[in-house]
Amino acid sequence: MLINDIEKVLITREQIKTRCEELGKELKDKFEGKTPLVVGVLKGAVPFMADIIREMDSHVEIDFMDVSSYGNATVSSGEVKIVKDLDTNVAGRDMLIVEDIIDSGRTLAYLVDLFKYRKANSITIVTLLDKPEGRVVDIEADYVGFDVPNEFVVGYGLDYCERYRNLPYVGVLKPEIYESN
Ligand code: PRP
Ligand code: MN
Ligand code: MG
Repeated sequence: MLINDIEKVLITREQIKTRCEELGKELKDKFEGKTPLVVGVLKGAVPFMADIIREMDSHVEIDFMDVSSYGNATVSSGEVKIVKDLDTNVAGRDMLIVEDIIDSGRTLAYLVDLFKYRKANSITIVTLLDKPEGRVVDIEADYVGFDVPNEFVVGYGLDYCERYRNLPYVGVLKPEIYESN
């Protein structure tokens, strides 16, 4: 069982559900009379995006983007490259970027610059988790589900070596999981 790999649960599935309902209502009001283009940042945003759009109860279009940082994972160069681009022309669109977590802020800063360059009408950011202590680039989300401490968290989209994304809660792994790698 996956729970056996977890040291502690930081955010329960009930807390996530309640917060998604709250954020969904706020976003529905925010985009009143508009049809936002909701962009999920692969892969981590998938569970949160699936839940949040079903709480919005208004017209949306969805699309996905996959980006990755150049270089190795531990020392990021800060440069970002497009792995999978949108299918949609964003010019004139009201966009909602959905993220699972903002850490350094590099991924989001890149996407915001890109969508501005492509002439989006407006750009709103919602993230399930915010890790303010990790920030390198000055960027904030408009809507944040929960703040998290500067620990490595997994679950509900967040991975360790591509695993644990399917946990229905957010938690911290037991140290021996890292040590066995
Ligand atoms: C993670 C996370 C965010 C980004 C946040 O994605 O899902 O997209 O990093 O970090 P940053 O604020 O320092 O840019 P990752 O690149 O690991 O890809 P994944 O979503 O496929 O796991
Ligand atoms: Mn991601
Ligand atoms: Mg990742």
